[in-house]
Amino acid sequence: MSSRSLPADKNKTPIVQEVIPFNVPYTTGLEFVYMPQAVTNKHTAGDGPFSFQCKGWIEKSTGVLHTLMVNSCTSALEIAALLLELKPGDEVIMTPYTYVATANAVVKAGGVPVFVDIRPDTLNIDEGKIEEAINERTKAILVVHYSAVACEMDTIVSIAQKHNLVLIEDAAHCIFSSYKGVELGTIGQLSTFSFHETKNLCCGEGGALNVNLEKYYRRAEIIRHGGTNRARFIRGEVDKYTWVDVGSAYMMSDLNAAYLWGQFCRADQILHARTRLWQRYHQNLQEGEDQGLFRRPVVPTECIHNGHLYYLLFHSREERDFVIRYMSERGIHPVSHYMPLHDSEGGRKFGKTCGVLQNASDLPHRLLRLPLFVSMADRQQDRVVEILYEGMLKR
Ligand SMILES: Cc1ncc(COP(=O)(O)O)c(C=O)c1O
Repeated sequence: MSSRSLPADKNKTPIVQEVIPFNVPYTTGLEFVYMPQAVTNKHTAGDGPFSFQCKGWIEKSTGVLHTLMVNSCTSALEIAALLLELKPGDEVIMTPYTYVATANAVVKAGGVPVFVDIRPDTLNIDEGKIEEAINERTKAILVVHYSAVACEMDTIVSIAQKHNLVLIEDAAHCIFSSYKGVELGTIGQLSTFSFHETKNLCCGEGGALNVNLEKYYRRAEIIRHGGTNRARFIRGEVDKYTWVDVGSAYMMSDLNAAYLWGQFCRADQILHARTRLWQRYHQNLQEGEDQGLFRRPVVPTECIHNGHLYYLLFHSREERDFVIRYMSERGIHPVSHYMPLHDSEGGRKFGKTCGVLQNASDLPHRLLRLPLFVSMADRQQDRVVEILYEGMLKR
């Protein structure tokens, strides 16, 4: 825990104000055991022993057919988009309320992201708006489960099946979250996890591509391996490896995998700690919602989430910005989140919109995420809530 002093008044003892950051990456301690092992193994590049352990763990704990460990969720999305074999002008329907990587992957693969509006409750893609965006150029639907709360997947799966579209889940936030008892990241033919420092389970930079369809798996292996058939060579299926397709350096280093393994070994504790803190915010902020000060996250009954993030929606951008400023001046650091992609320079240049995106143009500007990290003490969380309420009185 860090602290800093307020500007000193010469005649007074300086008041030490505790700083509560937005995020503190959690270390289990096992990272210090496994990373040296990776060094001793003399295998620090991709597909070393720890990478295989992580791959097996994800496959077993989620039930997905295949997992490939990669160096970021961005890389996993890029591989997924390449697997679509898009022709110039082919379209992929997605939410505009996401990180740029979701859309960039499609653009880099030669396609056009088509943005449809989001739901006002979960902030996920509005499943009721997807069909009107489908045309003969549409190849896939790419959903993002915001804050690990699932999109309305029954409807989305049936739309994808009806129109013969590939379904991809950007499940960057979602490991250990589910929809009607099914793990997120296993519903689409392709899906992605992030293990970036800000995610529940992390290794600095890292990700995974889940592949639920055999026909994609072999090609995904090749794309991930620089466009070579090296995976087949390692399995002894060919006597030398060569360039066979497009690809890039997408593998996760075994040093990162060793770190990640240290997190996977404590995944239950991390999940428990985060969901407990999430629930505590939810209870302690109920009164504010009842008084109409802000709106808390909505979690449909069929969704179980992993406590990845806790957000509030205010009445206006000005109110949200005031609260961020008020809290920051008191050493507490809430943050906003994605800027809607359809309204960005890149979104206008590379993407298309379907209809009026009223919610997506409005809600992100009123959203604030509160500090939430495994090592957060209840006392710190209580202070966040106290200062938040104080700020609301002063606005
Ligand atoms: C929804 C979503 N998709 C993709 C990414 C990219 O993840 P990574 O940083 O692992 O590349 C992020 C990152 O925060 C994200 O929030």
